[in-house]
Amino acid sequence: MSGIAVFGAQWGDEGKGRFVDFLADEADVVIRYQGGNNAGHTIIVDDITYKLHLIPAGSLYDAKPCVIGNGVVIDPGALLDEIDGLAEQGTTIKNFMISDRAHMVMPYHKLMDGLSEDNAGEAKIGTTKRGIGPCYTDKAARKGLRMCDLLSDSFADKLKIILDEKNNELTKIYGVDALSYDQILRDFMGYKEKLAPLICDTSLVCYDYYKQGKKLLFEGAQGMLLDIDFGTYPFVTSSHPTSGGVSMGTGLPPQVLTEVVGVVKAYTTRVGAGPFVTELHDEMGEFIRERGHEYGATTGRPRRCGWLDLVIVNFSVRINGITSIALSRVDTLGEIDKVKVCTGYEIDGEIVNNYPASLEDIEKATPIYREFEGWSGDISHIRDYDELPEAAKTYIEFIEEQTGVPVGMIGVGPQREQCILRQKYYV
Ligand code: IMO
Ligand code: MG
Repeated sequence: MSGIAVFGAQWGDEGKGRFVDFLADEADVVIRYQGGNNAGHTIIVDDITYKLHLIPAGSLYDAKPCVIGNGVVIDPGALLDEIDGLAEQGTTIKNFMISDRAHMVMPYHKLMDGLSEDNAGEAKIGTTKRGIGPCYTDKAARKGLRMCDLLSDSFADKLKIILDEKNNELTKIYGVDALSYDQILRDFMGYKEKLAPLICDTSLVCYDYYKQGKKLLFEGAQGMLLDIDFGTYPFVTSSHPTSGGVSMGTGLPPQVLTEVVGVVKAYTTRVGAGPFVTELHDEMGEFIRERGHEYGATTGRPRRCGWLDLVIVNFSVRINGITSIALSRVDTLGEIDKVKVCTGYEIDGEIVNNYPASLEDIEKATPIYREFEGWSGDISHIRDYDELPEAAKTYIEFIEEQTGVPVGMIGVGPQREQCILRQKYYV
């Protein structure tokens, strides 16, 4: 049995999708465990670009079983649109299962996400407005609707009670029109017809795979620094993108993980608001954004760009028990004269190596940098580590030395095969 978690070690958009897709070839099943369609995982195969939001990356392999676990929040309409979109690109989703315990993102969640952001002024989080936060809020408040509710005869009654309350809030607090019960019920009955065959107790299905010694692959969305507990709260998402989220979000025991792959971008990006110590507000930030096409796969927003921050990566290593790093976008840093890496912060005259909880402390932090020679030339064709330019190897080996974790995979281009593999994952 092997269970590999692939998750983001920074603020999301590290390139998880492409590494999951790479490992999925060997895996028996791919499982999403948290988040929703706030995720945007880009995979390029034979010059076709796939943008996945809810569907696990393994689905691009014909008939590979894929699971959406209980920790994910599902917008059923968006899921069906994604399935249709993939079909238009020639990929039919087969062998796909959705947890009956997963919560549904409802139309009022999306509306309230947008309204609360629009009303927040300076406190705006910069969410993806996909209703993710309000949906997890209702889950915790025990006012959510789950996939199993959609299948139940009591769905119409449950929806009525919840919608009355939500409409009250929408009209009285936000001053907008109430949502139509009849319309929502009609839409959801349509979703039910299409999704019912896919909904099951995925914890049981996954447990069977686990007991049979299958190769399991867990696909994280977002990233460690967006985790609701360990991220830059409140500028976070509402779920647990960490390796700890795997157990909660699938119903499998914690022993299931034999390898934790932290995906690290060779520099740092962030979309949305919140502190970012190594952010570059100059031409270099602009250069990285343009060279790396750093625009959100879900919202199209320009991503904030900065140097690699090892305080963050080391925090991720510790909290998640990272056993190997998958380093993405090494090609993007090519052609830069001097490349910098942050090894610590200076806060109020003191050197700090542990990521602080308080945003006020993070905002006061000045990055301490180590400077490296850049590398040049096209590296996208390289598949053998030794063939990388010496300067790139020095950079990578510095990351290994500072984190104490091997860099097992290196992304040298966006295509599926543009990857250097340095270790075996499934044994
Ligand atoms: P992938 O899986 C990067 C960010 C949003 C915002 C915060 C909260 O592609 O790496 P939410 O809509 O989740 O309530 O927004 O989290 N965010 C992401 N940033 N990559 C993502 O996913 C993200 N999903 C959410 O920009 O700052
Ligand atoms: Mg993304």
